[in-house]
Amino acid sequence: MHAVTLIKGDGIGPSIMDEAVKVINASGAKIQWEDAYAGLSAFEKFGNPLPDATMESIDKTRVAFKGPLTTVVGTGFRSINVALRQKYELYANVRPATNWEGVKTRYDDVDIVIVRENTEGLYSGLEHYLTSKKDIAESLAVVTRSGSQRVIEYAFKYARDNNRKKVTVCHKANILKYTQGIFLDVARETAARYPDIQFDEKIVDAACMHMVMNPQQFDVVVTTNMFGDILSDLTAGLVGGLGLIPGANIGDDAALFEAVHGSAPDIAGKNLANPAAVIMAGVMMLNHLGEFEAAKRIKLAIEKVVREGKYVTPDLNLQSTCGTKEMGDAIVAAMG
Ligand SMILES: NC(=O)c1ccc[n+]([C@@H]2O[C@H](COP(=O)([O-])OP(=O)(O)OC[C@H]3O[C@@H](n4cnc5c(N)ncnc54)[C@H](O)[C@@H]3O)[C@@H](O)[C@H]2O)c1
Repeated sequence: MHAVTLIKGDGIGPSIMDEAVKVINASGAKIQWEDAYAGLSAFEKFGNPLPDATMESIDKTRVAFKGPLTTVVGTGFRSINVALRQKYELYANVRPATNWEGVKTRYDDVDIVIVRENTEGLYSGLEHYLTSKKDIAESLAVVTRSGSQRVIEYAFKYARDNNRKKVTVCHKANILKYTQGIFLDVARETAARYPDIQFDEKIVDAACMHMVMNPQQFDVVVTTNMFGDILSDLTAGLVGGLGLIPGANIGDDAALFEAVHGSAPDIAGKNLANPAAVIMAGVMMLNHLGEFEAAKRIKLAIEKVVREGKYVTPDLNLQSTCGTKEMGDAIVAAMG
């Protein structure tokens, strides 16, 4: 039995997480869920967006399965997602974007894995006003050689272990010569130790254009925190949207699995949210836990449901009247 900390999150979180837990429980995986709270709902309930009990649970289980958390724009508490990634040193954020059969998109052969540095860069949390009038502010990007090393090494090792051919580093070292320069230097040094993996470098703005026009040239992409955040939404758009893209936050002795998308306040409470992304994050979690059979069963079932296109949410089929719960039920039924 694997103990897993379960954080349902905010907005569409509870509805998609209920479906994900239902599907995982039906898959035969041996999971013991420990309920915990974080984000806006935890703040409203306990006056603390990251209660001690949640961290005590993750300290014990070392594996968390999490719904999206709302971070209010411009004011309020700092992102709890960022706080959790930093606290547990979840330095590699792995976000695969692959075409799905049955989902019509501009290209048919996209298969890109973004590996985003997850603890440093512009999301280091070093931000303040410089004047009492609050009319000048600065944010500091911290990039360390050791922080760059561990995530870039992860990306190359991931490529080798998963039979991938190429790693592209996306950077902005032409302008941010020191912070981005360290990241690029480490990528070049690491590439030299992986002669079996092709290596490419792209300046991030040009990389965006290439990704939209010719995404097939990308395989594994490694990049710094904010660029990875943005590029992974871009790759989501290439393969059918945020409703389909899972993410794993990996550290040396803890891991947290979630969808790439946020709490989607525009569709919360309407039974419209696609549970596929977070269920696929569950598949990544089961593989991490060694529950390979259960992971495979779920993946095949969800692929069948999406391919058939009947029980999918409206983000995948505008004519569909199927809701979050009905799609979850169809995935359970497809597991047989
Ligand atoms: N990991 C996380 O917890 C995480 C990630 C991103 C954003 N956020 C937070 O989420 C909140 C909302 O952010 P946002 O609106 O910019 O991004 P979002 O990802 O929540 O939504 C962007 C768009 O995608 C759609 N969408 C997202 N998930 C979907 C799903 N499962 N099915 C169908 N459509 C889906 C939404 O309806 C919206 O139109 C913010 O507070 C933000 O900080 C959290």
